[in-house]
Amino acid sequence: MTAPLNSSDPITVNVGLGDRAYDIVIGRNVLPSLGARIKALRPGVRTAIVTDKTVARHWLKATEESLAAADIPTSHIAVEEGEGSKSYAGLETVSEALIAAKIERSDLVIALGGGVVGDLAGFTASILRRGVDFVQVPTSLLAQVDSSVGGKTGINSPQGKNLIGAFHQPVLVVADTAVLDTLSPRQFRAGYAEVAKYGVLGDAAFFTWLETNHADIMRGGSAREHAIATSCRAKAGVVSRDERENGERALLNLGHTFGHALEAVTGFSDRLYHGEGVSIGMVLAAEFSAQLGMIAPDDAVRVARHLADAGLPTRLQDIAGFRQEGLADADRLMALMAQDKKVKRGKLTFILLQAIGQAVIANDVDPATVRDFLHRKLSN
Ligand code: GLY
Repeated sequence: MTAPLNSSDPITVNVGLGDRAYDIVIGRNVLPSLGARIKALRPGVRTAIVTDKTVARHWLKATEESLAAADIPTSHIAVEEGEGSKSYAGLETVSEALIAAKIERSDLVIALGGGVVGDLAGFTASILRRGVDFVQVPTSLLAQVDSSVGGKTGINSPQGKNLIGAFHQPVLVVADTAVLDTLSPRQFRAGYAEVAKYGVLGDAAFFTWLETNHADIMRGGSAREHAIATSCRAKAGVVSRDERENGERALLNLGHTFGHALEAVTGFSDRLYHGEGVSIGMVLAAEFSAQLGMIAPDDAVRVARHLADAGLPTRLQDIAGFRQEGLADADRLMALMAQDKKVKRGKLTFILLQAIGQAVIANDVDPATVRDFLHRKLSN
């Protein structure tokens, strides 16, 4: 693993997808360079920014100024903040706004926001006029290290999260680490769970480095750029080898089978952010791996300790009101996991650990073993 950069030069990570390859540009204060980068990539292009009302208050002006400085015409549509915008209604609102803004096939949509905006804008771009290119400008840590990279776009169905969607790769990702300064500490920590995930699933040295450097990442020191770039490199590698999740890409779902069930049981609400569900889910996956004899119990303890040190919830009991409201029900969690996209012909797919830094896909997990495990965790 390389040492963190001391300079403030942006770091560029390439996602190697042949003629659809693209750069992720990471650095403090790279947002002002967005217009020049788009101009170099697509001279003469017109753009429309899709954002949400909260992000717009902080970052729309700077984004528009950067585009204006490069003589790039633009307009914008700001949706409501939150998961509710990733809906059929949100898709209609954004599609109609882009058509009204006369965005043509050769123009560019710019997604300025967190995961919700990136998924919604990217999916709208994928079907608008049968496909318009788009640029991701992620403004949350989670979006910078995960959702803005790799081309998964979509909206939610009333029957489940992300059930309507498309693979549509961006043509550029510009991740300005300074914009993370306006996140609440809780939002930042939730995104950090996805950073730690890359260490736990595939890079033991990175995990060890995170154990020492997580406080500097939170503070916004140079460790932050290094952590984001290392995460993006890991994701770019996986995506370039398995864009459509026929194999290896499923490893990125570490912690998500348990985590999505926990998000569902808490109503996809502020009670449990996605990254918080992933944190608890990762610890459960590590503990379940230990129960199956795949890793030493001490390794599961180490994963839990690091996430707790970073201020993340690590136990089911850490979810506010979990017990009191009758949510601590293993059968209910099992039923929710059975609806997840990670189910194939009735068998649960889990990402389990053979070591810290070595995750594996387990396609054939016996539901009864999982139910017993959850029962035990809930009665602790
Ligand atoms: N967030 C998991 C993936 O992009 O595959």
